[in-house]
Amino acid sequence: MIMPIRQFQAQRMHAPRDFQRIENTPICVEIGAGKGKHALLFSEQHPDLSLIAIERTREKFLAMQKQHQSEGQTNLTPIHADALPWVVHALYPAQVQQFFILYPNPEPHNPAQRWLNMPFFEFLISRLQPNGNITLASNIPEYIAEAEQQLQEVWKLPYEKQIIASDSARTHFEIKYLERGELCQQLIIRKPEHYSTRFDEMQPRQGQAVETLSEQAHVD
Ligand SMILES: C[S@@+](CC[C@H](N)C(=O)[O-])C[C@H]1O[C@@H](n2cnc3c(N)ncnc32)[C@H](O)[C@@H]1O
Repeated sequence: MIMPIRQFQAQRMHAPRDFQRIENTPICVEIGAGKGKHALLFSEQHPDLSLIAIERTREKFLAMQKQHQSEGQTNLTPIHADALPWVVHALYPAQVQQFFILYPNPEPHNPAQRWLNMPFFEFLISRLQPNGNITLASNIPEYIAEAEQQLQEVWKLPYEKQIIASDSARTHFEIKYLERGELCQQLIIRKPEHYSTRFDEMQPRQGQAVETLSEQAHVD
């Protein structure tokens, strides 16, 4: 599949500090997990699934880690890192069963930094199993509308749009927005069986720059 977006420069990503390699076993990954409310709930409710919850902001990560230590879910691994280099260095192609991106920063002044506008999104899709999904939640209707447009026009991925129930309480931001009476929505994005990306053959490498193995499909 030729993607009408410039290619993500995975080889430029340095491994995060104190990076530790993971095994190539099926996992779920939450990006921007905040203080970990959803990660802790999800791992408790799905003892058969392993979840890695990544948070970049130190204070929030520490809050998640502290709560995890008191609750003790053995199937949850909190990670303090920027998700982009961590995903590039840690995850194997088609390893991930589900990604969660819940109430991402809306980046009002920097639309290029929104997840579905980034070339990195192609790399993220490459890490997803066939029929795996990405849950993207937001309280901003324009953010959801733009993501839908990107899914249709750029990524060509099927999705389902859902309205989040007013008594849902998966994350701290979700609780805050629903209490204010805001409309919260999510897209459940599915990777079809035979979907391909330019990163499907790219393996992770600990502590090294990752080389681009697939040079086909140059665009721009
Ligand atoms: C608006 S908050 C939402 C937190 C949580 N998901 C919730 O709903 O309560 C967005 C979070 O994403 C984190 N974040 C943003 N970009 C990130 C990145 N590249 N890697 C890891 N975390 C990131 C921020 O630090 C912040 O905690």
